[in-house]
Amino acid sequence: MLGASWDDFGLLVRDALHSDIALLNSVNDSLLANSGKQLRPLLLLLVSKALGSINDDSLHFAASVELLHNATLLHDDVADGSSLRRGQATVAALMGPSAAVLVGDYWLSKAMDMVMSSKHRNDAVMLFSTVLSNLAQGEMLQIEKAAAADTSEEDYMRIIYCKTASLFEAACVAGALAIDAPQAAMDAAARYGRAVGLAFQIRDDMFDYTGGDGLGKPVGLDLKEKKITLPLLGALKNSGTEAEIRAMVRDIEDHPENCTEIQRFVIQGGGLDYASARLDEYILEARAALDVFPASEAKDILAELAGYNAIRKK
Ligand code: IPE
Ligand code: IPE
Ligand code: MG
Ligand code: MG
Repeated sequence: MLGASWDDFGLLVRDALHSDIALLNSVNDSLLANSGKQLRPLLLLLVSKALGSINDDSLHFAASVELLHNATLLHDDVADGSSLRRGQATVAALMGPSAAVLVGDYWLSKAMDMVMSSKHRNDAVMLFSTVLSNLAQGEMLQIEKAAAADTSEEDYMRIIYCKTASLFEAACVAGALAIDAPQAAMDAAARYGRAVGLAFQIRDDMFDYTGGDGLGKPVGLDLKEKKITLPLLGALKNSGTEAEIRAMVRDIEDHPENCTEIQRFVIQGGGLDYASARLDEYILEARAALDVFPASEAKDILAELAGYNAIRKK
């Protein structure tokens, strides 16, 4: 449905990254050759299309969100000590954390260049810098909470809004901003993006317990890092053993065998069902947000993509 616009977006990303440093170019090429789902630019372009038509700013913003997203993954794999991404060794694992941080910085700078070359640069710079500040705060809160193993559901929602949903929200707002959509449509795009992003991270956190065919990244890493996510929070509710389980999470570094027991506790305690029910609520929320969009094929695809979180396998 996006046709040539999708190709134009891909070219913008590729061209933006070109460098005359051979090592950097070869890392960029291998990242581009295994590019992931590209869900955020897809949502962004569909929002532009649903509310008007895709223009140059839509394309620049689409490139910008994807560049920024990849930069955060490069940094995240350093923060999480993860050696696998999209089924391949991470840059951090292959070249060390310094190279991964630097390549991430490079992609981030290209995301900003892309924003600066848009007609809506003033609004867009604010939009994207808010996302970056949310991302950093979300990751720091996650580290703070992991150390104490005292994450509440409220903390969890704040963390996943900041680290994930905030970028989905900004992507959808940018799609509306690009075409000067009216305020009511911008607000609806924000609400849709936020709900899709929250559902997306809940699903990702479920994968850390269930795995999945072709997931392409490690399973069980969150718990090892003492990240208490929604499946565990769900199982803790009314379990009567909350203090003991949290103590086991806190001791996980010295007692890695606790992982298996906590995983069993989550599955038997209905933690995945709990997370799945919350995820469904956000899918409904996302679809409700689309009510103010005029009827179109793009709107129908956006509604379908909201539900994609419930069934996706990676
Ligand atoms: C991974 O995002 C990071 C999270 C927010 C969970 P994606 O699952 O969208 O990553 P790629 O780009 O498709 O690999
Ligand atoms: C999302 O959280 C991180 C970012 C927003 C970069 P995760 O740490 O769960 O993402 P994955 O599982 O490594 O993709
Ligand atoms: Mg991670
Ligand atoms: Mg994850």
